[in-house]
Amino acid sequence: MYTAFHPKEVWLDTDGNVIQAHGGGILYKDGVYYWYGENKGADNCTVEGKNLARVDVIGISCYSSTDLYNWKNEGVVLPASDDPDSDLYTGKVLERPKCIYNKRTGKYLLWAHVDTADYKFARAGVAIADSPTGPFTYLGSFRPNAGEMSRDMTVFVDDDDVAYLFHSSEDNATMYCSRMNADYTGFDGTYTRNFEGEYREAPCVMKRNGRYYMVTSYCTGWAPNVARVAVADSVMGPWTLLGNPCVSEGAELTYGGQSTHILKVEDMEDTYIFMADIWKAENLQDSRYMWLPIEWDEDQMQIPFVEEWRL
Ligand code: DGJ
Repeated sequence: MYTAFHPKEVWLDTDGNVIQAHGGGILYKDGVYYWYGENKGADNCTVEGKNLARVDVIGISCYSSTDLYNWKNEGVVLPASDDPDSDLYTGKVLERPKCIYNKRTGKYLLWAHVDTADYKFARAGVAIADSPTGPFTYLGSFRPNAGEMSRDMTVFVDDDDVAYLFHSSEDNATMYCSRMNADYTGFDGTYTRNFEGEYREAPCVMKRNGRYYMVTSYCTGWAPNVARVAVADSVMGPWTLLGNPCVSEGAELTYGGQSTHILKVEDMEDTYIFMADIWKAENLQDSRYMWLPIEWDEDQMQIPFVEEWRL
């Protein structure tokens, strides 16, 4: 039993196996947190003609928890395919899964970055299920709204139940915000271009006191770089890109991590967790998690590094 978070350390599930849920996100539903992430449990290989480490796709894992420390493995809820024509082919890329619930349809939508091994396909894929633990049925992939690329991504559902995909586009140079349709299975044609030419990826979005905050990284493959926070009064922007929210030693490299999700903790006032990945390029399956508390200096986000902490 864990009773605290231990950023960067090996994190075991309730069966004693290493948690495989990288680039992940969390959905809260009916008293349970569901953590979806990349199962990177395969051995490293390299992309032909590219100096980029990868592992074959196994699929998207799901874990469940009621206390956020102890996680039960719910299995691979969207498995890879051995069909080379499938978006989910083992030899392709399936990253940064985020699951949202549609109150109107009662469906769970699992969005992820789907790509070819050379990252040129650059699309957002979606799968649907009746239960948070699946089974999920893959519906297909998009270049949302404008027909532009979609690589690193997150999804955000606003208080009015309208959902948005934030995605690195234009070869990662510009962060798009694309509004979804009412079913969250596609897009309604409305989008904004943000941070033009800034090369931000790994977006995660939250809302506090009516303002929106987005943390992103710069683009350096698996290597860590500096995080930046952006703020907006409206979810589609305009977004203002500000400085680094990290405040402890190692802040200029996000303490070795890269953002993936910001979790609002239920039933705890003003409590948010910054979730990041510690990528281990030389052995991706040993990549770790770094969950840190978010603190506020009035409306300025601050992310300190702490070796062990509790909610
Ligand atoms: C950075 C992205 O944030 C990751 O999700 C992954 O695509 C790596 N690049 C691959 O180098």
